[in-house]
Amino acid sequence: MPPSSHSSRDSAAGAGWTCQEPGTYTSLLPSRVRDLSWTRPSTLWRARNDVLARWFGDPTDDERARWVGEQLARGAGPDFAIERDDPDSFSFMVLGDTGEGDGSQYAVVPGFHRIGEGTRFAIIASDVIYPTGSVNEYATKFFRPYQGYHAPIYAVPGNHDWYDGLGGFMRVFCGVPPLSPDGRPKAFSAAWWRRLFWKEPDVADEGRLAAAEALRAAPEQRAVQPGPYWVMDAGPLRIVGIDTGIIGGIDADQGAWLRRVSQGPKPKILITGKPLYVDDESHPCPIAGGGTVDDIVRDPACNYVAAIGGDIHNYQRYPVRVGDRVIEYIVSGGGGAFMHATHTIPRVAVGGVTEEDFRCYPLRGDCLSFYSRLYGRRLRLRRFFELTEDDAAAVIARRLGIPPKRGTRAAVTWRARIVASLLGVPPRPHRRSRLRLPVRRIYQRFLSPMSDSNCPPLFKSFLRLDVTPERLRIRCFAATGCLEHELDPPIEDEITIHLNQ
Ligand SMILES: [Fe+2]
Repeated sequence: MPPSSHSSRDSAAGAGWTCQEPGTYTSLLPSRVRDLSWTRPSTLWRARNDVLARWFGDPTDDERARWVGEQLARGAGPDFAIERDDPDSFSFMVLGDTGEGDGSQYAVVPGFHRIGEGTRFAIIASDVIYPTGSVNEYATKFFRPYQGYHAPIYAVPGNHDWYDGLGGFMRVFCGVPPLSPDGRPKAFSAAWWRRLFWKEPDVADEGRLAAAEALRAAPEQRAVQPGPYWVMDAGPLRIVGIDTGIIGGIDADQGAWLRRVSQGPKPKILITGKPLYVDDESHPCPIAGGGTVDDIVRDPACNYVAAIGGDIHNYQRYPVRVGDRVIEYIVSGGGGAFMHATHTIPRVAVGGVTEEDFRCYPLRGDCLSFYSRLYGRRLRLRRFFELTEDDAAAVIARRLGIPPKRGTRAAVTWRARIVASLLGVPPRPHRRSRLRLPVRRIYQRFLSPMSDSNCPPLFKSFLRLDVTPERLRIRCFAATGCLEHELDPPIEDEITIHLNQ
């Protein structure tokens, strides 16, 4: 396939703003689709285990120990290795936070199939199924959309997969039955209160699941993984997938396993449910009992070259210098769910990474314009809220001192400044210490999920990684929902990592 010559960094058309014709993805959708709404009380109630885990203690580590114990008893090796036989040069795909099952997920599918042609496998990083990882929703949110991808798909779970106790994930990816119920907690203990309101895993509808599994039953699509965390030697690369549960840490046993499988000079990539660098912040991911995942990633003896995480639904890249090496920390959560805002990311200054080194998709200006149009529609205040992509890029340039990537001559009006403030664009860098409203956190947790849209341009993304013994090329492709981008997905970022650096 010839390389795409346009992207959101080149033109408004490359971003999808002049979309003439929606893509063919609409024909892939099931005949009856209920858009996943994050404002619907029933959705929030089903995902209540997140709040319960934070209030009454997170049972994830104990549950994971039970799953892992059963896998070992079934004969899984202690390294939880996925056996592969890949050549020295090959390609694979990574996409994160896929499973909404509506237009925003299916819009990614045609481009993913096109770019994924000839790749050896794909990995889903986090949140395979929204809102609660239910085994009964794999049909429309996993098997159906990826039935045309003729290679195995592996995954690491995200917090939403854990809202089902990981039952759906373990059934589909590891082929194992549900855990038997554990003992009753002591009356009126925190665990007792948690259990009182806890959403129990759904019971599989076996007929429906069998029909769904038949959609990806070809021999070349078969994938069985040994557990929620795993390691894979693929050609010259070792890929390590970790399970960060609901809150975003790993248990002591998984930590010991991670330290063990990370040793040695073979170049490595970490795939995680929670990114280690995101939104201009470092989140090293604690290991129970001491240390962090990032300590292991940064250790020269482990030779990690990249750490890719889902959870946040956009693309970000932080090339962090560690000694004489550069480790690429990537967020890749734009694979299907609602979009988390990038316009709320301040001018980047974290881990030695500056704004000049940082990459994100969508561009902040496009993101602000997207949100302004959406809120204009929702609040019936279009004339006040809506900012064109040029208006938005201009106000971002003024606020954050980031020159518009596509250039703009738009003036920054008072209206644009007020809308930018209301929608969470950070204040100028020198004002940061004065104004510290929790706008970003509120945005991430509440306003982004409520801004779910299934109409182009959608600003979704996925990765293709091309490996040779010497080099690893990582490209971020866009899925806008426009037909022209389905046929020729724009490349929004591209890097080459020398594996013997
Ligand atoms: Fe997610």
